[in-house]
Amino acid sequence: MTDKKDKSIAADTSAMWGGRFEAGPSAVMEAINASISFDKALYAQDIAGSTAHARMLAKQGIISDVDADAICTGLQKIAAEIEDCGFEFKAALEDIHMNIEARLRDLIGDAAGRLHTARSRNDQVATDLKLWVRDALDGLDRDLQALQAALITQAETHADSVMPGFTHLQTAQPVTLGHHLMAYAEMLGRDRSRAADARVRMNESPLGAVALAGTSFPIDRHATAEALGFDRPAANSLDAVSDRDFAMEYMSVAAILAVHLSRLAEEIVLWCSSQFGYMRLSDAYSTGSSIMPQKRNPDAAELIRAKAGRVIGAMNSLMIVMKGLPMTYGKDMQDDKEPVFEVANTLALSLAAMTGMIESATFDKARMRADAGKGFSTATDLADWLVRALGMPFRDAHHVTGALVKLAETNGCGLEDLSLAEMQGVDQDITDDVFAVLGVDNSVASRVSYGGTAPEGVRARIRDAKARWL
Ligand code: ARG
Repeated sequence: MTDKKDKSIAADTSAMWGGRFEAGPSAVMEAINASISFDKALYAQDIAGSTAHARMLAKQGIISDVDADAICTGLQKIAAEIEDCGFEFKAALEDIHMNIEARLRDLIGDAAGRLHTARSRNDQVATDLKLWVRDALDGLDRDLQALQAALITQAETHADSVMPGFTHLQTAQPVTLGHHLMAYAEMLGRDRSRAADARVRMNESPLGAVALAGTSFPIDRHATAEALGFDRPAANSLDAVSDRDFAMEYMSVAAILAVHLSRLAEEIVLWCSSQFGYMRLSDAYSTGSSIMPQKRNPDAAELIRAKAGRVIGAMNSLMIVMKGLPMTYGKDMQDDKEPVFEVANTLALSLAAMTGMIESATFDKARMRADAGKGFSTATDLADWLVRALGMPFRDAHHVTGALVKLAETNGCGLEDLSLAEMQGVDQDITDDVFAVLGVDNSVASRVSYGGTAPEGVRARIRDAKARWL
């Protein structure tokens, strides 16, 4: 933080906005003000926005075609320099917008100074980040589809693999693994639909709102909106520069998705434990212990569970930044980018890891089947049979079944192990037919209601899911 450094900063920034300043910012001011360390991620969007703006300015006769051509050629060169790592980003130039504009001036001279006509960094940055988030939503949709495909493939294999279904993490009723996995495919389907909704809502162009109030130049906001793939220009210039709903909405979509991934991760952790023993991750997605040679740890699942906290935190951080801001742009909004980037990176990695884990996992069908019958899991089937076969009101059937469960518990056996005589001791009308509903296969096969766990229904829903999502 020397004086010398301060002078060199002043020399750099004065080219952009230093006309009325005598001294440059202090090193601390530069450090808190600069966003280039992270907003360089917006370079492609910034160049696309500037190109559309320059073309529109020329078409409207605001700048010459010659200048517009020089600007666009220069911008292409800058894009190549950045991609080849031959671009020097300078904190003294604060952000990606001024870094690119300064370089453009080096390359093409004074014509570069015409690019910022009828534009402000306020509409520029809103446009750039929106374009970035739009791409992120498209990438998210592809990643979600890949995970759905992995789940659906395993669900097809296990459409009739019986496992215990749980409520309160207590054995409830037998279900199939295919049915259980398809529950997650549904959640991800809603995530995709939320992302698609958000994309439609955000697809309005802020460009041309300028600093906050619009401009006296005869710009064509419809033309720049169209060139950038927006559906229309945003209707209110004040809103356009101060709106960060699109970033908050993206992160809200992401946070709900992260909750889904975390729940699946939690199940993987449980299922991979020796206590459950339902699932085995491939070597590629397991880790060992440095001291306990027997261990296969589900680290990726644990980390996905943890990263949900980071995603939710990132969403919170931007909402808290935004909630106190008066209209219109405030520099606080510069802090919108890091949470957005963190969410995108975290989700891409989490989704790739989850897809890899699911694709390569194997399941212990015998173990799941054995567990499915434990804990009197077919008690509801027995009660339903009493209703269907004996015409009992369900509440009475529930009571009779409870007495039978108690008897089995006292005898230390399963419901299916009670003799007919023992059952008739509880209700004399019970017949031999009851045993047909007490097996786990019969139990799942009987649940044919739409959306239920019967294997034929699960296969039908898988067909629907493939047509809808893959
Ligand atoms: N780097 C700034 C941001 O990300 C760009 C906009 C700055 N606008 C301004 N009037 N200082 O928000």
